[in-house]
Amino acid sequence: MTDQTINHALYDDFSEIVRDLRGYLQYVKRLGFKGVALSEESANTFEQLDKGPAVETLEMIRKDLGDCRRCKLHKGRKHMVFGDGNPRARLVLVGEGPGYEEDLQGLPFVGPAGQLLTKILAAIHLRRDEVYICNIIKCRPPGNRNPEPDEIGACIPFLRRQIRAIRPKVICALGAFAAQTLLKTNTPISQLRGNFHTYENISLLPTYHPAFLLRNPAKKRDVWEDIQKVQAAYEKV
Ligand code: URA
Repeated sequence: MTDQTINHALYDDFSEIVRDLRGYLQYVKRLGFKGVALSEESANTFEQLDKGPAVETLEMIRKDLGDCRRCKLHKGRKHMVFGDGNPRARLVLVGEGPGYEEDLQGLPFVGPAGQLLTKILAAIHLRRDEVYICNIIKCRPPGNRNPEPDEIGACIPFLRRQIRAIRPKVICALGAFAAQTLLKTNTPISQLRGNFHTYENISLLPTYHPAFLLRNPAKKRDVWEDIQKVQAAYEKV
Protein backbone atom coordinates (compact mmCIF):
# COMPACT_ATOMS: atom_id res chain seq x y z
CA MET A 1 0.00 0.00 0.00
CA THR A 2 1.27 3.48 -0.81
CA ASP A 3 1.00 6.38 1.62
CA GLN A 4 -1.67 7.91 -0.59
CA THR A 5 -3.76 4.73 -0.49
CA ILE A 6 -3.48 4.64 3.31
CA ASN A 7 -4.44 8.32 3.55
CA HIS A 8 -7.48 7.72 1.42
CA ALA A 9 -8.50 4.63 3.41
CA LEU A 10 -8.28 6.78 6.57
CA TYR A 11 -10.22 9.52 4.85
CA ASP A 12 -12.95 6.99 3.87
CA ASP A 13 -13.28 5.91 7.52
CA PHE A 14 -13.26 9.49 8.74
CA SER A 15 -15.81 10.72 6.23
CA GLU A 16 -18.09 7.82 7.18
CA ILE A 17 -17.91 8.99 10.81
CA VAL A 18 -18.71 12.56 9.70
CA ARG A 19 -21.69 11.29 7.68
CA ASP A 20 -22.97 9.30 10.69
CA LEU A 21 -22.52 12.35 12.89
CA ARG A 22 -24.43 14.49 10.40
CA GLY A 23 -27.27 11.94 10.39
CA TYR A 24 -27.35 11.99 14.21
CA LEU A 25 -27.37 15.81 14.32
CA GLN A 26 -30.22 15.90 11.80
CA TYR A 27 -32.09 13.48 14.04
CA VAL A 28 -31.62 15.57 17.20
CA LYS A 29 -32.53 18.70 15.19
CA ARG A 30 -35.86 17.10 14.39
CA LEU A 31 -36.27 16.53 18.14
CA GLY A 32 -35.83 20.28 18.72
CA PHE A 33 -32.08 20.59 19.40
CA LYS A 34 -30.96 24.04 18.28
CA GLY A 35 -27.37 23.11 17.47
CA VAL A 36 -23.94 24.23 18.63
CA ALA A 37 -22.15 27.47 17.86
CA LEU A 38 -19.24 26.90 15.44
CA SER A 39 -16.50 29.38 14.69
CA GLU A 40 -16.23 30.38 11.02
CA GLU A 41 -12.97 28.43 10.82
CA SER A 42 -14.56 25.23 12.14
CA ALA A 43 -17.53 25.65 9.80
CA ASN A 44 -15.10 25.99 6.87
CA THR A 45 -13.21 22.90 8.00
CA PHE A 46 -16.43 20.87 8.00
CA GLU A 47 -17.34 22.19 4.58
CA GLN A 48 -13.92 21.22 3.25
CA LEU A 49 -14.22 17.72 4.73
CA ASP A 50 -17.44 17.33 2.82
CA LYS A 51 -15.59 18.07 -0.41
CA GLY A 52 -12.93 15.45 0.23
CA PRO A 53 -9.21 15.77 0.77
CA ALA A 54 -7.12 18.32 -1.11
CA VAL A 55 -8.02 18.16 -4.78
CA GLU A 56 -6.43 15.33 -6.68
CA THR A 57 -6.41 14.99 -10.44
CA LEU A 58 -7.22 11.86 -12.40
CA GLU A 59 -3.62 11.87 -13.64
CA MET A 60 -2.35 11.75 -10.05
CA ILE A 61 -4.65 8.83 -9.27
CA ARG A 62 -3.61 7.01 -12.44
CA LYS A 63 0.03 7.52 -11.50
CA ASP A 64 -0.54 6.17 -8.00
CA LEU A 65 -2.26 3.10 -9.49
CA GLY A 66 0.86 2.45 -11.58
CA ASP A 67 1.32 -1.07 -12.92
CA CYS A 68 -1.13 -2.27 -10.28
CA ARG A 69 -0.51 -5.68 -8.70
CA ARG A 70 -2.63 -5.12 -5.62
CA CYS A 71 -4.83 -8.15 -6.38
CA LYS A 72 -4.61 -11.40 -8.35
CA LEU A 73 -6.49 -10.01 -11.37
CA HIS A 74 -3.31 -8.37 -12.67
CA LYS A 75 -2.03 -11.83 -13.66
CA GLY A 76 -4.56 -12.38 -16.43
CA ARG A 77 -5.08 -8.89 -17.74
CA LYS A 78 -3.93 -7.51 -21.07
CA HIS A 79 -4.75 -3.94 -20.11
CA MET A 80 -5.98 -2.19 -17.03
CA VAL A 81 -9.14 -0.16 -17.66
CA PHE A 82 -8.81 3.01 -15.62
CA GLY A 83 -11.81 4.93 -16.97
CA ASP A 84 -12.40 7.26 -19.87
CA GLY A 85 -14.08 10.53 -20.71
CA ASN A 86 -14.34 14.09 -19.50
CA PRO A 87 -12.41 14.67 -16.25
CA ARG A 88 -14.92 17.44 -15.45
CA ALA A 89 -18.00 15.42 -16.40
CA ARG A 90 -21.31 16.21 -14.74
CA LEU A 91 -22.34 12.59 -15.26
CA VAL A 92 -20.28 9.55 -14.28
CA LEU A 93 -21.41 6.07 -15.34
CA VAL A 94 -20.10 3.14 -13.33
CA GLY A 95 -20.20 -0.45 -14.58
CA GLU A 96 -18.91 -3.68 -13.12
CA GLY A 97 -15.55 -4.47 -14.69
CA PRO A 98 -13.82 -4.89 -18.03
CA GLY A 99 -14.90 -7.68 -20.36
CA TYR A 100 -12.99 -9.22 -23.26
CA GLU A 101 -12.98 -6.18 -25.57
CA GLU A 102 -12.31 -3.72 -22.75
CA ASP A 103 -9.32 -5.78 -21.60
CA LEU A 104 -7.96 -5.81 -25.16
CA GLN A 105 -8.38 -2.07 -25.70
CA GLY A 106 -7.86 -0.72 -22.17
CA LEU A 107 -11.10 1.25 -22.47
CA PRO A 108 -14.43 0.85 -20.67
CA PHE A 109 -17.62 -0.25 -22.42
CA VAL A 110 -16.27 -0.78 -25.93
CA GLY A 111 -17.83 -4.23 -26.55
CA PRO A 112 -21.47 -5.00 -27.43
CA ALA A 113 -22.79 -3.67 -24.08
CA GLY A 114 -20.72 -0.53 -24.64
CA GLN A 115 -22.25 0.03 -28.06
CA LEU A 116 -25.68 -0.10 -26.47
CA LEU A 117 -24.50 2.30 -23.75
CA THR A 118 -23.32 4.73 -26.43
CA LYS A 119 -26.83 4.61 -27.98
CA ILE A 120 -28.50 5.12 -24.59
CA LEU A 121 -26.34 8.20 -24.03
CA ALA A 122 -27.11 9.50 -27.53
CA ALA A 123 -30.83 9.20 -26.71
CA ILE A 124 -30.30 11.89 -24.04
CA HIS A 125 -28.08 13.92 -26.38
CA LEU A 126 -24.78 13.01 -24.74
CA ARG A 127 -21.58 11.88 -26.38
CA ARG A 128 -19.22 9.54 -24.59
CA ASP A 129 -16.55 12.23 -24.39
CA GLU A 130 -18.92 14.49 -22.44
CA VAL A 131 -19.37 11.99 -19.61
CA TYR A 132 -16.94 9.83 -17.65
CA ILE A 133 -17.24 6.04 -17.87
CA CYS A 134 -15.57 3.67 -15.41
CA ASN A 135 -16.05 0.44 -13.50
CA ILE A 136 -15.94 -0.88 -9.95
CA ILE A 137 -12.86 -2.93 -10.83
CA LYS A 138 -10.16 -2.14 -13.36
CA CYS A 139 -8.99 -5.59 -14.48
CA ARG A 140 -10.95 -8.33 -16.20
CA PRO A 141 -11.80 -11.32 -14.00
CA PRO A 142 -11.00 -14.65 -15.70
CA GLY A 143 -13.94 -15.84 -17.81
CA ASN A 144 -15.85 -12.69 -16.77
CA ARG A 145 -16.65 -14.22 -13.37
CA ASN A 146 -17.94 -11.91 -10.64
CA PRO A 147 -15.25 -9.88 -8.90
CA GLU A 148 -14.30 -11.24 -5.48
CA PRO A 149 -14.33 -9.21 -2.24
CA ASP A 150 -10.52 -8.92 -2.00
CA GLU A 151 -10.40 -7.67 -5.61
CA ILE A 152 -13.08 -5.09 -4.95
CA GLY A 153 -11.39 -4.06 -1.71
CA ALA A 154 -8.09 -3.46 -3.50
CA CYS A 155 -9.63 -1.55 -6.38
CA ILE A 156 -12.51 0.52 -5.06
CA PRO A 157 -10.44 3.16 -3.20
CA PHE A 158 -9.22 4.28 -6.63
CA LEU A 159 -12.74 4.60 -8.02
CA ARG A 160 -13.77 6.59 -4.93
CA ARG A 161 -10.85 8.95 -5.53
CA GLN A 162 -11.73 9.25 -9.23
CA ILE A 163 -15.28 10.22 -8.35
CA ARG A 164 -14.01 12.76 -5.81
CA ALA A 165 -11.63 14.22 -8.40
CA ILE A 166 -14.42 14.58 -10.97
CA ARG A 167 -17.13 15.69 -8.51
CA PRO A 168 -20.00 14.91 -10.91
CA LYS A 169 -23.54 16.12 -10.39
CA VAL A 170 -25.01 12.70 -11.07
CA ILE A 171 -23.78 9.09 -11.02
CA CYS A 172 -25.55 6.37 -12.95
CA ALA A 173 -24.74 2.91 -11.58
CA LEU A 174 -25.07 0.30 -14.32
CA GLY A 175 -26.31 -2.99 -12.95
CA ALA A 176 -26.69 -4.68 -9.60
CA PHE A 177 -23.02 -5.05 -8.92
CA ALA A 178 -22.14 -1.34 -9.31
CA ALA A 179 -25.26 -0.13 -7.51
CA GLN A 180 -24.92 -2.53 -4.57
CA THR A 181 -21.19 -1.91 -4.17
CA LEU A 182 -21.45 1.88 -4.23
CA LEU A 183 -24.54 1.97 -2.01
CA LYS A 184 -23.26 -0.79 0.31
CA THR A 185 -26.50 -2.73 0.13
CA ASN A 186 -27.82 -6.13 -0.94
CA THR A 187 -31.14 -4.73 -2.16
CA PRO A 188 -31.94 -6.18 -5.61
CA ILE A 189 -31.40 -3.94 -8.62
CA SER A 190 -35.09 -4.31 -9.50
CA GLN A 191 -35.84 -2.36 -6.30
CA LEU A 192 -32.91 0.06 -6.44
CA ARG A 193 -33.39 1.15 -10.06
CA GLY A 194 -35.41 4.18 -11.02
CA ASN A 195 -34.89 5.99 -7.71
CA PHE A 196 -32.23 8.46 -6.69
CA HIS A 197 -29.93 7.44 -3.86
CA THR A 198 -26.97 9.31 -2.40
CA TYR A 199 -23.32 8.46 -2.75
CA GLU A 200 -21.02 10.89 -0.88
CA ASN A 201 -23.56 13.70 -1.33
CA ILE A 202 -23.91 12.98 -5.05
CA SER A 203 -27.21 11.84 -6.57
CA LEU A 204 -26.90 8.27 -7.76
CA LEU A 205 -29.43 6.53 -9.92
CA PRO A 206 -29.10 2.78 -10.50
CA THR A 207 -30.42 1.20 -13.67
CA TYR A 208 -30.07 -2.14 -15.41
CA HIS A 209 -26.72 -3.01 -16.98
CA PRO A 210 -26.65 -2.72 -20.80
CA ALA A 211 -25.44 -6.37 -21.03
CA PHE A 212 -28.60 -7.39 -19.12
CA LEU A 213 -30.65 -5.33 -21.58
CA LEU A 214 -29.10 -7.19 -24.50
CA ARG A 215 -30.42 -10.41 -22.95
CA ASN A 216 -33.72 -8.89 -21.76
CA PRO A 217 -34.85 -6.32 -24.32
CA ALA A 218 -38.23 -6.06 -22.56
CA LYS A 219 -36.43 -4.05 -19.83
CA LYS A 220 -35.52 -1.27 -22.29
CA ARG A 221 -38.58 0.73 -21.27
CA ASP A 222 -37.44 0.75 -17.62
CA VAL A 223 -33.98 1.92 -18.64
CA TRP A 224 -35.45 4.62 -20.85
CA GLU A 225 -37.47 5.92 -17.89
CA ASP A 226 -34.39 5.79 -15.64
CA ILE A 227 -32.13 7.52 -18.11
CA GLN A 228 -34.63 10.34 -18.57
CA LYS A 229 -34.44 10.93 -14.81
CA VAL A 230 -30.65 11.02 -15.11
CA GLN A 231 -31.00 13.56 -17.93
CA ALA A 232 -33.31 15.78 -15.86
CA ALA A 233 -30.89 15.73 -12.90
CA TYR A 234 -27.94 16.31 -15.21
CA GLU A 235 -29.54 19.29 -16.91
CA LYS A 236 -30.83 20.90 -13.69
CA VAL A 237 -28.63 23.88 -12.81
N1 URA B 1 -19.37 -4.37 -18.66
C1 URA B 1 -18.99 -3.56 -17.64
O1 URA B 1 -19.57 -3.61 -16.55
N2 URA B 1 -18.00 -2.72 -17.87
C2 URA B 1 -17.36 -2.61 -19.03
O2 URA B 1 -16.45 -1.79 -19.14
C3 URA B 1 -17.78 -3.46 -20.06
C4 URA B 1 -18.78 -4.33 -19.86
